[in-house]
Amino acid sequence: MSESHLSKAFLQCIEAECKRIYSIDQRVYTCSVCGGLLDVQYDFRLPRTTADLKSIFKERRLSDSELDRSGVWRFREFLPFVADLSRVVTLSEGNTPIYQAPRSAEYSGISSLRFKHQGLNPTGSFKDNGMTTGVTQAAALGAQTVACASTGNTSASMAAYAARAGMRAVVFIPAGEVAYGKLSQSLEYGAKVVEIEGNFDDAMRLVRELADETDLYLLNSINPFRLEGQKTIIIEMMEQCGWQAPDWIVLPGGNLGNTSAFGKALHEMSELGFINRMPRLAVVQAEGAAPFYELFTSSDKSMLRPIDRPATLATAIRIGSPVSWKKALRALEWTNGAVARVTEQEIADAKAVIGRDGIGCEPASATTLAGIKRLVGSGVIEAADDVIAVLTGNPLKDPTYTIGYHTGKLNLDENESGLMISGNFANRPIRVPAEKRQIKSVLAI
Ligand code: F0G
Repeated sequence: MSESHLSKAFLQCIEAECKRIYSIDQRVYTCSVCGGLLDVQYDFRLPRTTADLKSIFKERRLSDSELDRSGVWRFREFLPFVADLSRVVTLSEGNTPIYQAPRSAEYSGISSLRFKHQGLNPTGSFKDNGMTTGVTQAAALGAQTVACASTGNTSASMAAYAARAGMRAVVFIPAGEVAYGKLSQSLEYGAKVVEIEGNFDDAMRLVRELADETDLYLLNSINPFRLEGQKTIIIEMMEQCGWQAPDWIVLPGGNLGNTSAFGKALHEMSELGFINRMPRLAVVQAEGAAPFYELFTSSDKSMLRPIDRPATLATAIRIGSPVSWKKALRALEWTNGAVARVTEQEIADAKAVIGRDGIGCEPASATTLAGIKRLVGSGVIEAADDVIAVLTGNPLKDPTYTIGYHTGKLNLDENESGLMISGNFANRPIRVPAEKRQIKSVLAI
């Protein structure tokens, strides 16, 4: 069928003292012996040299085949777990641009900065990269109903891919905490939307239990097949850099699936000789939802301490008990990485600055720029470093936040008594009578 069949795929527990192996045909999410997270592992046997593969990856973009044109599946030699490539579920995800961002660079104190914009995916976030692989595996296992807990983007993406695959989708979201763009997508793509009276961590716990007790197939990033697709964000980034790694790759951290996937991608690319230098990963969390920052800066890294009531206006990353923290820690060890945390004000201002570069993103994505500014301030990132940040979601995902910032109505507490965010880069609309003279006067034209 395809050259990628030469590599053998299996699941393996990540715990050093366990390493138990499972077949990829088994419906397991964690190790049944020790409860550890699982990796999709390969006995890689690449059909061509790395140099050949690099040109093949690029040439596929010109192909007429849906599979070749996908920015995930054109790298399929890194994803050799699919027995029947004709059953791949794709929406032409990936192939996202990298933009130079001079205003953002200046704001954060570095000489140049680039953004890879995952918000330009079919459903507007990086989740599509992982959902094409996750739903493809769900189809291979014969799943009829897929499920996830979500702060919004995972559910939007899963709903779309499930609809494409003709599967039922059930999404569990924290009631009242999901941005409207995302909620509207899940409804439109036909998912059954269950609003839990609790936070994301409650929803996550419940859906994991339900997936164990029923035939719901779980598509959160604890499912290692999701992370396989998200690896291609970094593979594609390296391709766009001529396979020369930057000094830093910066991304937001919530449930820490993306951090885990990026680490695995870099590890595999380095082992297989696609890159000869490791970039450093920098993960950024919102101050009110920063359990991974706490873990990383503590002397005892053996256990993450969950945060009971995570709080941030960047609802995508309002997560107190990130499922993939062990894989994320491993990613930072592999890449000599760093973790930063940033305030609500810093996130809001950074988001507006990214907008002024003509790029824009959703709040969680803006933690990257705020984090770079912090890490430059503390001397971890240097002014001359080559930095690429990943913008994880589209600016249209959360219009309520954006309008709130620009009209001076953004605050951390829904009952209006909490922290007010200042619109340091606000761009207020101006209201005028429907009268030309007054318009001219207001615009000074
Ligand atoms: N940025 C955006 C826009 C997200 O939607 C998420 C996660 C993250 C960053 C954090 O990524 O979890 O891999 O560390 N959103 C999930 C969701 C939790 O349900 O949509 P992570």
